[in-house]
Parts: sequence; C-alpha cells; structure tokens
Amino acid sequence: MIIGVPKEIKNNENRVALTPAGVAEFKKNGHTVYIQTLAGVGSGFTDEAYEKAGATILPTIEAVYEIAEMIVKVKEPIASEYKLIKENQLLFTYFHFASSEELTHAMIERKAICLAYETVEKADRSLPLLVPMSEVAGRMAIQEGAKYLEKPMGGRGILLGGVAGVKPANVLVLGGGIVGTQAAKMAAGLGANVTIMDISLPRLRYLEDVMPANVDTVMSNEYNVREAIKLADLIIGAVLIPGAKAPHLITRDMLKEMKPGTVLVDVAVDQGGCIETCTPTTHENPTFVIDEIVHYCVANMPGAVPYTSTLALTNATLPYAIQLANKGWEKACKENEELKKGLNVVNGKIVYKGVSEAWKLPYCHISEVLA
Ligand SMILES: NC(=O)c1ccc[n+]([C@@H]2O[C@H](COP(=O)([O-])OP(=O)(O)OC[C@H]3O[C@@H](n4cnc5c(N)ncnc54)[C@H](O)[C@@H]3O)[C@@H](O)[C@H]2O)c1
Repeated sequence: MIIGVPKEIKNNENRVALTPAGVAEFKKNGHTVYIQTLAGVGSGFTDEAYEKAGATILPTIEAVYEIAEMIVKVKEPIASEYKLIKENQLLFTYFHFASSEELTHAMIERKAICLAYETVEKADRSLPLLVPMSEVAGRMAIQEGAKYLEKPMGGRGILLGGVAGVKPANVLVLGGGIVGTQAAKMAAGLGANVTIMDISLPRLRYLEDVMPANVDTVMSNEYNVREAIKLADLIIGAVLIPGAKAPHLITRDMLKEMKPGTVLVDVAVDQGGCIETCTPTTHENPTFVIDEIVHYCVANMPGAVPYTSTLALTNATLPYAIQLANKGWEKACKENEELKKGLNVVNGKIVYKGVSEAWKLPYCHISEVLA
C-alpha cells in the first residue's frame, strides 16, 4: 500500500503520525511511504532520518494526498485539507467528529474512509489510542503543578517533596483512572503526600495495592472533597464519565476554603472540567487566578512535549496502521473488532452511532459497508 504522512498544519501541533522507526516497519512489510518535507521536525525527526529509514520526501501536502492510498495523521483534517482528500482514500487519525459538524459534512462529501483513533476500542471498552495521551497529560500535570506552586509563578511557594525537617506538599488527585494514576505516581515519586479520590471502590482497591506508602485512597463524595481541598497545595482534576460532561467536584464557593496560592490543574478541561471555575487555556497563556487560586487548564497538554507524545502515540497506532496496510481496511476491520469500532464515516455514510446522533444525520449500520 502507498502510505502518506502530511505535516500537521493545525496551530501549534508539533506531533507527527509516523517516526522513522515506523517507516522502517512499513518498508519491512512491503509498503511505500511518502513523508511531507519537515513533517517530523517539530518532534525531532529530520527528513534525512526518514529517508534513511526508506521513505521518500515530498515537497508539498498536495503531493502527499495525491499519491497516498492511506493518509496517517495526528489531528483531524482542517478546512484547507478537505479538497485534497480523494474518494476511497483511507484516513487514519484523530477526528473527534462529535465536536465538529463541518468536518463531518466535509468527510461525507469527500467519500473518504475515516478511521478515528479515538473510537478504536478494545473488548474491555478501553480506548488504546487515547490512553497514551492521558499518560502524558497525567505525568505532565505534576510537572506543571510543581512549577506553578513556585512563588514567582503565582503559587504558595512550596516544594512538592519538602526537605529534611520540612513537610512535603499535599497533592489531591480527583479521579484515579489513567491520568490520575500517572499523576499520583509522579507526585509520590517527588516525595509529596498524595491522596487519590475515585467513586469506584474496585479502582481504589487496586490503587491502594500498587501505590507507594505516601499515597492514600479516599472515596470521592462532596463531604470528603470539601475536607481534602482545605489541606491541598496542588489539586489535579482527572475525572471522566465517558460520553458526558465532567461533574463539577469543586465549585466556585469552595475556592474560599482553600489556601491562597493553591494550584489547580484541571486535566479534564477538554470534557468541560471537574472544577467549575476552569475554562480552557493554551500553552501560550496557561494559567489564570481566581480568589487567589492558580488555575492551569490547558486543553492539549501533550502538545508541549511533542517528542514524547509522538513516540507514545505512534507506539500505540503503528500496529493498527500496519494491519490496515497489510490487509486493506475492509479485511482488517472484518478481522479486528477493535479497528472496526474506529470506522466513523465510510464512502459518504456515517457508520458510528455517536456521530450520527450528534448531528442528527442518517446512520448506516456497519454491516452495510463491510459486506
Ligand atoms: N487536557 C489534556 O491535554 C488531556 C489529555 C489527555 C486526557 N485528558 C482528559 O483527562 C480526563 C481523564 O482521562 P482518563 O484517561 O484518566 O480517564 P479514565 O476513564 O481512565 O479515568 C477517569 C476516572 O474518573 C473516575 N470518576 C468518575 N466520576 C468521579 C467522581 N465523581 N469523583 C472521582 N472520580 C470519578 C472514574 O471512576 C475513573 O477512574 C478526560 O477528560 C480526558 O479527556 C485531557
């Protein structure tokens, strides 16, 4: 198969969908890979590195779309790319169709095969192509939180791990899923006193078993949250209710009960946030202060560490991309339920219920396109 990798053109997107190691893997399987010039530079991969791995560098995005049977990307196509997409072309990338009606209509019109990273799903309902970005964001939450706890950054002026004779900081993690677990691990490693709250008792049991001694687990409810925020120096919001807006576990009135200079990092901001006063911010301007409480609410945290994020993402996407190339999308999706769940729009038809419901557009059962 002919694989094409365009340079991401969304604002501030430095990740790339394929590394030189990925190119070598495609070549080993007998495929041809075209990379747009400078596609990997934001993640630290030069054109020469791709060429050495066996790819051909193309000068323009148009040339990549023109030649490729499968386009592998990171972010959804943006308006200027729509016209480049060809009928029957396979696009393997994040789409998040339910948040863009324009994109949904555009992909229907182009009659492409849209396989979305975010809906590839395992039998246990986990989302293997979202997990790596949650891992990155969870770990980063502590790094950023520690930074903003410094006095010149607006925080309380407290060192997470303390020193001999001085108590460490208290870190409260709301939600003990992927983000929360990674955040707790990082904070514990730095020597902080960590509390993780979740509503799932089996999850708390698991965390209690695997976490070090400086991590406590507590059932999440309003009373316990109100008590814990009074003591916390750094609070990480990592709650998710799949398919719904995050619940507001910290409401505006609760800010007054916190210590001035407390830092809130609401990682769940992309789902509306679990802290009422959080609104999305950017890496250029990541924080704001309300009632003397520092809010960090960057909606695309992994974007700040493109090298790590690219490797983490491509480690997860490559095995699926190789299957698609080896078998073609129809056979690959018939033989792999996880990939089949990734199909969202096929030849002008919406085959993913959530997308048809989001925009009240006709739904076509997947069996009709995968005969
Ligand atoms: N800002 C970013 O850059 C970025 C990056 C990656 C992920 N995220 C977001 O981070 C959030 C968490 O993702 P995840 O992968 O860890 O999800 P996850 O499903 O692995 O974990 C969510 C956890 O929240 C718990 N939960 C639900 N309701 C709760 C409540 N009332 N109190 C306490 N816990 C509760 C669940 O039991 C679950 O353990 C998501 O909204 C995700 O989209 C943001």
